[in-house]
Amino acid sequence: MSVHSSPGSDAASGRKPLTLHTLRAMQQRGEPITMLTAYDATFARLADEAGVDCLLVGDSLGMLLQGHASTLPVTLEEMVYHTACAARGNRSAWLIGDLPFGSYQQGPAQALAASAALMKAGAQMVKLEGGGWTTETVHALTQRGIPVCAHLGLTPQSVHALGGYRVQGRDDEGAATLKRHARELADAGATMLVLELVPSALASELQAELPQLMIIGIGAGPGTAGQVLVLHDMLGATRGKLPRFVRNFLEGAGSIEAAVRAYVAAVKDRSFPDPALHGY
Ligand code: KIV
Repeated sequence: MSVHSSPGSDAASGRKPLTLHTLRAMQQRGEPITMLTAYDATFARLADEAGVDCLLVGDSLGMLLQGHASTLPVTLEEMVYHTACAARGNRSAWLIGDLPFGSYQQGPAQALAASAALMKAGAQMVKLEGGGWTTETVHALTQRGIPVCAHLGLTPQSVHALGGYRVQGRDDEGAATLKRHARELADAGATMLVLELVPSALASELQAELPQLMIIGIGAGPGTAGQVLVLHDMLGATRGKLPRFVRNFLEGAGSIEAAVRAYVAAVKDRSFPDPALHGY
């Protein structure tokens, strides 16, 4: 769609809209699920047409679009705006909206109101960070018909408490806590879990122990039900040092669309992530 054409006037991707049911079927037949961040209509449309299964309107937009040093300043209003933009571009991918810092920490009532705002903007699922204290909230949301994606491991909204962007669950105690939190979140009704920057073996164990969760890894090795990358990272657009697990899919691809298609193909045929580059 260009600025001169109306929404829906492009050739459709031909794909049926993805649902939790179709994503679950992918997991059950061993087909890796692909997820990519998208913050606006153009990139949501492009990623959808390139075959990405899930789009995440991540609060990483605080750094990538707004130039903040972390995700902490992002507001609910901003997430609603970007979710609505991405939803207008998307046709068939499963769309997840991030609950930003400060929009659910007070508990279920606050989380319900914030989630409703994201769902009205077009999200089909909301994502929130953390374990333990979030269990009650996840239960309240899922009981009220709001699908939830949890987020454990490196949780960027807790960057100051964690002492930086570092690998989580490396020692026995950290791994045991992570496993307990994941089980509690699954029991509370979460259907998806983003698992960020944890040892590959731990991520594989978690996925084997909790098949009811579609675990989507980022820097968590190849043993999860799916993979997510940040759009700007996989296009080589992010400035500064990137983690080792990130691959620049634009290199040699020739176009952004080809890069996104290469990402989808690499996740589906399991040539990404590269275990040799995982490194922990
Ligand atoms: O906000 C975001 O982009 C995320 C990804 C890193 C998974 O949460």
